[in-house]
Parts: sequence; C-alpha cells; structure tokens
Amino acid sequence: MPHTPVDLRSDTVTRPTTGMRRAMAEAEVGDDVYGEDPTVIALEREVAERFGREAALFAPTGVMANQIALRVLAAPGTEVVVEAAAHLVAYEAGAHAQLGGLQFRTVDAPGGILTADLVRAALRPAAFPYTTSSLVCIEQTSNRWGGTVYDLGTLDGIRGVADEAGIAVYADGARIFNASVATGVDVADYARRVEALMFSASKGLGAPVGSIVVGDRDLVEQARHWRRVYGGAMRQVGVLAAAVRYALSHHVDRLADDHANARHLAETVATELPGAVDPTGVVTNMVYLDTGAVPAADVVRDLAAEDRVLVGSMGPNLLRVVTHLDVDREGCDRAAEALVRRLGA
Ligand SMILES: Cc1ncc(COP(=O)(O)O)c(C=O)c1O
Repeated sequence: MPHTPVDLRSDTVTRPTTGMRRAMAEAEVGDDVYGEDPTVIALEREVAERFGREAALFAPTGVMANQIALRVLAAPGTEVVVEAAAHLVAYEAGAHAQLGGLQFRTVDAPGGILTADLVRAALRPAAFPYTTSSLVCIEQTSNRWGGTVYDLGTLDGIRGVADEAGIAVYADGARIFNASVATGVDVADYARRVEALMFSASKGLGAPVGSIVVGDRDLVEQARHWRRVYGGAMRQVGVLAAAVRYALSHHVDRLADDHANARHLAETVATELPGAVDPTGVVTNMVYLDTGAVPAADVVRDLAAEDRVLVGSMGPNLLRVVTHLDVDREGCDRAAEALVRRLGA
C-alpha cells in the first residue's frame, strides 16, 4: 500500500506551508477589537485595494462572512433569491433563517449559474401582500456544480435585473480567485458588479483560517457590528491575517496548477470510463464523477482502505474530487488509477 494519503475531499484540507508558518510566527499583532492589530489592518487595506472597493473585514469562517453580509444586505422577513444547491442553502445549518430571519427563494439553475431571466422570474411583485424580494446571491465558483464560473455577461444581466427591482447582489465568492485565475478576469471586475462579496483564504489559497467581506466603507462598518454580534470579533488575530497575506502573495497564480491537475484527472478517468465525467466541464479545481451502478459510499470506503486516496461522496452515485496545493500531479494520477480500477470493476 502506498504510504502518503492523497486527500482530495476538499480544498479546505491544506496545511500551512513552511513559509506561511514563518509569516505567522513573525506577524506583528495587537488587539483587533480595539482596531490595533497592524497585520489585520494591512490585510484589510490590501484586500480592499485588490478588489477595487473601499473596505474589507476579516472574518473567521466563510459561513460567518456570508451570514454577516446577508444580515447587512437583507432585512429580516424579506426574501433572497439563490440557486437551489448553493452553500448558503445546503450547508449553513439554516443560519439565514435563524440569524437573519430570512426566507430563501431557491431557483434551479443549470450548472448552478443563475441568469437574468431566472432571477427576474423569481422576484416577487413589489406589492401587498407579497413577500419583499431584497437580495440576489450568486456563488463564484459554484461548489455543488463542480466549480462552474459566472462570466461577466451573466453577472451584468443579473445586475441589470437587480437594479430594475432596486435590490442588492451579493457574491459568496469563497473560490472567486479560482474563477479569476481560470478566466483571466480580475477580481475587481467581479467585485464592482455586486454590493458585497466574500472570499475564503482557507480553501484553495491554503490559509488555515479566514474569509474576508469586501464592499463599501459603510457596508463594512455595519458588517463589523454584526461580526461582533455573531461572536467573530477577535483579538491578536494578526497571526492568522499574516497567513492570509502570505496566501494572497504566494498562492493565487498557482491555482492554475490545481485547475490543470483537475482537468488531467478528469481526462484520465474519462479515457477509460467516458460515462463517468465530461472533462470539458472541469474549469476550475473540482471534478464530479458519476459512479454508475457502484454506490459512491462504497468507492469512498474502498479507495481510502486500499489506495489511501480520499474522495468525497456528494450523493448516492456522485463523487467529488477537489485539487489543491497539497496534492501534486503524481497524487492525481494515483487517484485517477484507483478510480478507474474501482469504477470499472
Ligand atoms: C461556496 C462556499 N461558501 C461558503 C463556505 C463556507 O466556508 P467555511 O467552511 O470557512 O465556513 C464554503 C465551504 O466549503 C463554500 O464552499
């Protein structure tokens, strides 16, 4: 049995590199609740500049960043238009309802990508006694649909519908840097089309902790208030902000390697098992595989036990494989071989 495990369950499993750990150890810190942590201040300024917006706010997790943004952008009792399989809908433990008092209007969208027409059809008439539509959320990239990407034309269409209706647009941009690297579109071009977005440094960028909310100064000040309410205001958090700064300097361009590895893995599997995956649909760092007659849970179990290859089960016959900076081409080849052997058996 090979010794090193290949962990492709998620891009959240990465461990800080030696350089990142050094940056964390050397970080200057202060009490961030007093606004005195120089590394957090520098990170928030750098992020705001990079996204072409006025301000940014460091939050501990992607879920908290999302929920803070929703709390600022949508009043309790209003309705939010969101794609049906979005992280906000499926994986945040109903936080939008519990913390934000929000109702979701979920929309089925091919590839997880909302369009102007889909959003228009989901908005309620602005009249009594309809529920008030307040916000549209997009997910860049779409996790549950295999890392698919919103292009600028689609975002412009959604922006236009939102403007006509007088409502806001928010991007759960947990993997917005994957979208940017895959398409060559600057993150600022995504950011100027929304009221606010968040991105996660703790996914493909390889930081241990951290998601950042980006928007105008007033919005970010309100977000700071809600971060406190949700218990996410932290103290000498520069040690973590240093990891995010390091990731933004060292781990953005290399996302292209993860995308190439994901495409390569998909192509290798598809050569043997054409029905399992369409490699042309792999545009960022995720590969979804149809396991056919073999239960996905059995594949997960057998690959872990026999090959030390870890993949995720996303449904009875659906596997998810995610590439990241702790997995190289050789690891992807090992995973592809194991998948072909098990699925072809
Ligand atoms: C699209 C998306 N949004 C938000 C999150 C939440 O991030 P966290 O796990 O840091 O709370 C995730 C996590 O996987 C995600 O994939």
